[in-house]
This record gives sequence, C-alpha cells and structure tokens, in this order.
Amino acid sequence: MNMNRRQFLRTSTAAAAAFGAVPLIGQDAFGHYKTALIGCGWWGNNILGEALQYAPPPPGDKKCKIVALCDVDQSKLDSTIERVGKLTGELPRKYRSYLELLEQERPEVVIIATPDHWHARQTVDAVKAGAHVYVEKPVSHTIREGQAMVKAARKYGRTVQVGLHRRVSPHNISAMKFLREGKAGKIGFIRAFVEYDWARQHEAPTRNEDVPKGLDWDAWCGPAPLRPYSKLIHPKGFRQFLDYANGTLGDWGVHWLDQVLWWSEEKWPKRVCSTGGRPILGPSVNLPDYQTTDAPDSQSAVYEFDSFTLAWEHRMFAGNTAEKGENVGCFFYGTEGTFHLGWQNGWTFYPHDKSKAPIGEPAQLHEPDQQNIKELWADFMAAIMNHRLPVCDIEIGHLSTNLSLLGMLSMKAGRSVQWNGVTETIVGDPYASSLLQRQYRPGYDYPVVL
Ligand SMILES: NC(=O)c1ccc[n+]([C@@H]2O[C@H](COP(=O)([O-])OP(=O)(O)OC[C@H]3O[C@@H](n4cnc5c(N)ncnc54)[C@H](O)[C@@H]3O)[C@@H](O)[C@H]2O)c1
Repeated sequence: MNMNRRQFLRTSTAAAAAFGAVPLIGQDAFGHYKTALIGCGWWGNNILGEALQYAPPPPGDKKCKIVALCDVDQSKLDSTIERVGKLTGELPRKYRSYLELLEQERPEVVIIATPDHWHARQTVDAVKAGAHVYVEKPVSHTIREGQAMVKAARKYGRTVQVGLHRRVSPHNISAMKFLREGKAGKIGFIRAFVEYDWARQHEAPTRNEDVPKGLDWDAWCGPAPLRPYSKLIHPKGFRQFLDYANGTLGDWGVHWLDQVLWWSEEKWPKRVCSTGGRPILGPSVNLPDYQTTDAPDSQSAVYEFDSFTLAWEHRMFAGNTAEKGENVGCFFYGTEGTFHLGWQNGWTFYPHDKSKAPIGEPAQLHEPDQQNIKELWADFMAAIMNHRLPVCDIEIGHLSTNLSLLGMLSMKAGRSVQWNGVTETIVGDPYASSLLQRQYRPGYDYPVVL
C-alpha cells in the first residue's frame, strides 16, 4: 500500500495518541514484543543478536519476536533475514522503506541502527507510530534534531534508549563509584581521547563507482546531500563524511564525553572551543569522479564547566603507546592521582603517592566486538515493562551528543561558542546559531515536535 508521507504521519500521530492510553506490551498470545530492525548493517546485527536472546529472569521465554527488517541495501537485508531464519526458524518480513514498515507492521519495539543522518527522522516517526525505540549514538546529526527526538519521546509517551552501552559496563560503573567516593581526590581536569593509527598518510582520492545493484542510494542519502556513491561511504565509512556524520568526535567522542557528564552529573558546558584539520590526510575532495573523506584527522575541543575543564583530543595517526600505553578513554586528573577509564583495558588508578601501587579493574565485555549491549537491551525492556526511564534515556543521549556537535560547530565556525544549556541556544552569534540545524533535501521535513 502506498501512503504519502503526510497521510502516514497524520494517521500515525492519531494512532500513537490512542496507544498512549494502552501500554503496548505482550501484544501476541505468547507475550512477545513485535520487534523490527531498521538498518541491517554491522551494529544493527549486534543489537539484533541481543534482542533475539533476551529472556528476562527467571529464565523463561525469549521476549522479542523479530517481525520485520528494513534496509535500503538488499544485500544487507537478505543476509540479515537469513541469519534470523537460521536462529529462529521464522522469516521476518522485508522492507526497503521504514515508513512502510511502521505503517504495515505497527511494531512495539524498533531498533534504529542506520547512519547518523537518519537517526532523528526515523526515531521521531517510530515513536509517533507508537513504538519504543533503541537508537544508536550519536542521537542526531545536528542539535535541533536531538531536541525533536526528546520532545517526541515525551509527547508520545514512548521509551527511547540510546546505544551508550558504556553506562552499563561493569568496569565503568565501578569507575564512577571510585571517582565519586573521592578516591582520586578532587578532579579539576579531564582528557577524553581516541588515538588510533588509522591514517598515516595523505589520502589519495578514490574513484566513485556505479551504485551497487540492490542499493537505493537516493534513499540511503535521504535528508542529507546526495553525494556520488563511493565504497568509502557505505557500508560503515559514512563516519568520516560530514554530510552524514560528524567524524571521530561525533562517533567515538560521544561515548567518552558521555562518561564525563555521567560522572559529573553536569548537563552542559558554558563554553566550547574546538579546532582541527587534516594535516596528514590532506585537503578533502568531492568531484563527480573522485572523492575523499572530509572529516578532520585530528581535532581538539575544550569544554568549560563550572568546576572542571574537559578536553577532547583525537588523532588518526600516531596511535598512542607512549602515554601509559592507553590510546582510548578518559584520564581524570585528581589531587590524589590520575585515573584512566578505558575500554578493553578496564580502568587503572595511578596514585600520586609513589609508595602505593596502581590499582585497577578489568573490563567485562561481550563478543562480538567487545560491548555491553546485552545489559543495555535488558534495561530497555525493563524500562518499557516498568514504565520508567531507561538508563540511557534519549535526553541523556541528546546532552552527550550535544557535546560532540558543539565541538564540531565551534570548529566549523572558527571560534569559541557560549552555550545556554537551558534554552539550548548559542549566545550572541547568529552564524554559529545557524549551524544548530541544517537544510534537508527537498521531500524530507526536518523533524520539529511542538
Ligand atoms: N554503540 C556503539 O558502540 C556503536 C558501534 C558501532 C556503530 N554504532 C552506530 O550504529 C550506526 C550504524 O553503524 P554501522 O557501523 O552499523 O553502519 P553500517 O553501514 O554497517 O550499517 C548501516 C545500515 O543502515 C542502512 N541504511 C541506510 N539508510 C537507511 C534507511 N533509510 N533505511 C533503512 N536502512 C538504511 C545501510 O544500508 C546499512 O546497511 C551508526 O550510527 C553508528 O554510530 C554504534
């Protein structure tokens, strides 16, 4: 059935208002949640695996039934259908359009693991259609989109969990306890960083290609600019293209900046200043025949909070083995010592008192890809069933994403910005303020929720 976008949104809004009165749980005779995945790539499949396995205590029935999958790339759709078929013996229905999926399936739970430029539009449409949503980080590409996502979750009374799984990782939880108990002393400065050897030389332009068979490239680009297709962008490579994402600060940065908001219980900085560039990769290129990535290969951002300063730093070259061997995470610098909160290495505290040995805790991560999605999915489902906010509620995800996006905005504006976190506005700078949102391509409405 074909329904135009406006009709769909009108009917889905009315439906969601009606759903608001009746909790959407256990809709089928066996108490399963009708679950759909939008974006069947790398990470979508990782989340799907946990959704399929989820069986709340006491161990009983698996609770999520995968009824539908959506991807604009047929090959991803087919391989994911095959996987679900093998694991469950049942084949979900396939969709190339997420709007059609929402309209025809009326899923109770939707996973959104598309590239960043799609997250906001799809989340708002999914909650309007009555679904609870697990959306990947960063929540949005621009700050105003994130605002609309928070408003939509509240207006339509739906649970929206953001994939910031480090908030449920055992070693991150014990790190917060250690720091909050003052064991590192008073913390005055934090350095969050990612330094991997990804790009050690000038980036030669890559020839654009014909769009692969089965990929709807126009729909992949969606509200964002339509660049020529390149395998550099899809799959997975969109992170380093500013039309679709926000570089390493928008990708990795959200995870680590979020840890600082979690520890400090602050919601926003007063001022942000960032600079960065492509000294190793070289100038970006976007020609009809060739292109390169265009995100900075190195960037610093400084965030001024009332009681501490936070510095972000990433480099895509000179992977760091010199500074205590850590190339990812946060260093919290306290009056009693230096605390490193990391990923695979867990955490380590280096006391200033040299007579005391460093102490630490290892990480407890799941395969594939060393994450804690299982715990985050369990929290998401518990939040739905108990009508409470999830641990990485959309508002938390929005505030953490804002740190990355304000850093990118300051770098693009070429100056520091003063942030009014209460009104979510930039003070006295019309040009920088204009970067809080962007023009969508014709045919796509920028999400605004009143
Ligand atoms: N929380 C984490 O630790 C973590 C880790 C990895 C990725 N992620 C996030 O997950 C998201 C996806 O990343 P990925 O690495 O899996 O990318 P990917 O390219 O492997 O997968 C994205 C999929 O979305 C599909 N897609 C694009 N537009 C679509 C649309 N309109 N409708 C349906 N499908 C569409 C693509 O065809 C692709 O198959 C990103 O936002 C990324 O930041 C989070």
